[in-house]
Amino acid sequence: MTKLIHDSKELEKKTGVDRAFIPTMGALHQGHLDLVDAARTLVGTDGEVVMSIFVNPTQFGHASEVSQYPRTLESDLAQCEANGVDIVFAPSVNEMYPDGSESSQGISVQPGSLGTVLEGADRPGHFAGVLTIVAKLLNLVQPRFATFGEKDYQQLVLISQMVQQLNFPVKVIGVQTRREPDGLAMSSRNAFLSPEQRIQAVSISRALFAAQRTEGNSEAKLSAARLALSREVEPSYLVAMTNDLSRELDATENATEGRLLFAGHLGSTRLIDNMPIGKVNLSE
Ligand code: PAF
Repeated sequence: MTKLIHDSKELEKKTGVDRAFIPTMGALHQGHLDLVDAARTLVGTDGEVVMSIFVNPTQFGHASEVSQYPRTLESDLAQCEANGVDIVFAPSVNEMYPDGSESSQGISVQPGSLGTVLEGADRPGHFAGVLTIVAKLLNLVQPRFATFGEKDYQQLVLISQMVQQLNFPVKVIGVQTRREPDGLAMSSRNAFLSPEQRIQAVSISRALFAAQRTEGNSEAKLSAARLALSREVEPSYLVAMTNDLSRELDATENATEGRLLFAGHLGSTRLIDNMPIGKVNLSE
């Protein structure tokens, strides 16, 4: 039976019970349920799997984006119940940011230079919002493990860095992106695509798979990806970077390890995706 909690005081932990935590903004899909499965595997049947559902206002650029974000608590809870989540923590904005502390004047966790590139370049302040809410949630839930999807790869890297550099006593686990049968990465934004755009969107994962298959330097890989992208997709970036996103791979560097990252628009819908070039294990 999933227990629904709105008040953080009720999160108190039983001694000796390990927790695995899945922070989400709700509107759950199979990708989130993969995180639940990973969380359960980490703590076993004696452990507790805790999910938070909170549409975090500080990571959005405009108030209208916050109000338009899908809120589907009832069906989210049913999915949590069916997938063995022990506790769902669904706080109010006031619970997480009392006394207007969500304003830019409040204390926040700053991401450093990685927060200003890729997604951070298109969405100023986004990662400070993400890191601040994740830090707060980790302090409230006190999990041993926290799982995050590789779909938001830059977020995963930044959260891993925050946990390491600020000495949070939690192990961050990245979980592989769940894809539709045709390859499109699962995302709540896919629902905004028209039937035609939905077909064109497949070219994003096709492009990344093409790059992965191409032997040679990063420019050869990226050229293969550009060729496979549908003309209707307008890229914001398509890059090959080191696994820790500290730099782009040199065009002529023989790329055996790293990450291919894409973001772009199909009409007004912004989609992101990424894939490893070689083997990567972020949780080590
Ligand atoms: O990935 C998300 O859904 C959010 O960025 C997160 C990690 C739950 C923080 O609000």
